[in-house]
Amino acid sequence: MSEAITSEPLFYNPLQDGYTEDPWSHFGEMRAGDPVHHSPLEQWFLFRYDDVMALLRDPSLSVDDANLLVHNEERLAAFESAFGPDAERSTSMLGVDAPDHTRLRRLVSKAFTPSSIAALRPVIEDLVDTALDAMDERGTAEVVGELAFPLPFDVISVMLGMPEADKDQIAKWSAALVKTLDPIITDEEVREAAEADTNMNALLDEVIEWKRANPADDLLTALIQAEEDGDRLTSRELRDQINLLFVAGHETTVNLIGTGIYELLRNPEQAQLLRDDPSLDVSAVDELLRYVSPVQISRRVTLKDIEIDGHHIAKGTGVFPVLASANRDAAKWGDDAEQLDVRREGTGQHMSFGGGSHYCLGASLARLEGQVAVGRFLRRFPNAAISGEPEWNGRINLRGLDRLDVTVR
Ligand code: HEM
Repeated sequence: MSEAITSEPLFYNPLQDGYTEDPWSHFGEMRAGDPVHHSPLEQWFLFRYDDVMALLRDPSLSVDDANLLVHNEERLAAFESAFGPDAERSTSMLGVDAPDHTRLRRLVSKAFTPSSIAALRPVIEDLVDTALDAMDERGTAEVVGELAFPLPFDVISVMLGMPEADKDQIAKWSAALVKTLDPIITDEEVREAAEADTNMNALLDEVIEWKRANPADDLLTALIQAEEDGDRLTSRELRDQINLLFVAGHETTVNLIGTGIYELLRNPEQAQLLRDDPSLDVSAVDELLRYVSPVQISRRVTLKDIEIDGHHIAKGTGVFPVLASANRDAAKWGDDAEQLDVRREGTGQHMSFGGGSHYCLGASLARLEGQVAVGRFLRRFPNAAISGEPEWNGRINLRGLDRLDVTVR
């Protein structure tokens, strides 16, 4: 006689208890139970490495919201009421397809050549050492506020040639803005994001005007002067690329450095390997990228009906490759996928920077910042230890710590 098996239907629920601290076990459930998942929010989520990789590399897909035909009506209504029904969508390269994407990316890429990134090393080392000096003097530190956030913020500000700005104010706006990358967002959060968007754009318009009058040897000036094949950036495109670089430049790397140091302090034997052998910095930062997944989810829109693993996905649907889940898929990484291993071979094949034509433009900069910050922090402070309950930022997508208290002596 067979027993009736009753089980709750499995659905991806990032609002469930405990998800903030541990999304990983939920990803494991989804990979095992419903890896190509149609969520009640009318979106598809992919949880396996191979599916995530194939989707990101599929050139037939779009990143442009204008191609969405299948909507989560509540989400759409909240965005329309906050941003206005006719609000123009961002023209940042992250949300446009070729040929505009190709043109915009080519213009901005000039600032991200291997030699221009390598030239930033001394700037990064100086910023890190100054932060570590202050920690050393006190004997205690708050790693996110003193190192993980200000480092990438200052580096992207230097690259762009931004004028001195109110860091706390901008941090609040950009935190509100990146909430829109979450698959679930409250009406209040959408309103806050719309307000932040207006404020940030007004600030960037002022900055661009100021830079026109004060050109210098920096990325902002280069973009203002950009002209390629007779094609200049429109002023709106210019502002949207700067907005993307400015926000992407710090909202992601903060999670790599903050959560990365947290995970190493929780795995002291791994931290010790790095202290003993600085040549491991490179593979360790890739392993941290795999392990913490600073951007957990990316996004594509189908331009025709497609099939994934026997599931029919209609034209105009949002499909979300869960990078963080791909990064812990045992089918790719083996039985120790859930463990941090700074010596893991092939760890650079993680999905944390996405893939295909939108692969992260700042990947080598982020890696360099991570290598300098994490390596120097650990070797300077052999006795560093977590001294208080860490505070999570509560974001589903750009998941990371808001606060990490440590003692460093
Ligand atoms: C740990 C840090 C970072 C992570 C995890 C990260 C992750 C990502 C991801 C997942 C994408 C989308 C890829 C896709 O959908 O295929 C992306 C795109 C992008 N990132 Fe990053 N990023 C980081 C740091 C940076 C930095 C420091 C910059 C620049 C200063 C940057 C600039 C960009 C740009 C411009 C794009 C859009 C590329 C395009 O659409 O062609 N990122 N990043």
